[in-house]
Amino acid sequence: MKDFNVQDYFSHDHDELDGFFRDFQSLKMTDFQAAQESFKKFRSGLQRHIAWEEQILFPLFEDLTGMKDMGPTAVMREEHRQIEAALEAIHAKVEHRDLDSAPQEAALMEVLKFHNDKEETILYPAIDHMVGEKDRLAAYERMKHIPSDASKTCCGHTPPNR
Ligand SMILES: [Fe+2]
Ligand SMILES: [Fe+2]
Repeated sequence: MKDFNVQDYFSHDHDELDGFFRDFQSLKMTDFQAAQESFKKFRSGLQRHIAWEEQILFPLFEDLTGMKDMGPTAVMREEHRQIEAALEAIHAKVEHRDLDSAPQEAALMEVLKFHNDKEETILYPAIDHMVGEKDRLAAYERMKHIPSDASKTCCGHTPPNR
């Protein structure tokens, strides 16, 4: 890879995760097992995405601006806790094969959509602008060492590697 564009890479990951979630929603009434597989990909991928941001991406911004405990990344970190709580509420439903998860799905989408929009329109472009190419590439290399959540189990099974 010659350059690592945060905006492109992370926005693409948002889109891919959205796709897994849509698959889960469209399949759950007709093919629960397939829906569950899509949910596992969504959950483990979202957990990895949050780890990439909190452990690697946000510190680039925080180190350069000195804004850590307040500022945009502090808000994003706080929203990640809301996203995780909403994600686990759906996970509990999926684990129990409870199809009535529409309120939990709506709650997750409400926080996730605005969160992703803010990252894509404000934070990612700011990071691409502020952080030099070499440091962005180094961050990309470090991201490879954060595994997907494959070591943890989901719904009683180990999720497939992505
Ligand atoms: Fe985020
Ligand atoms: Fe994100």
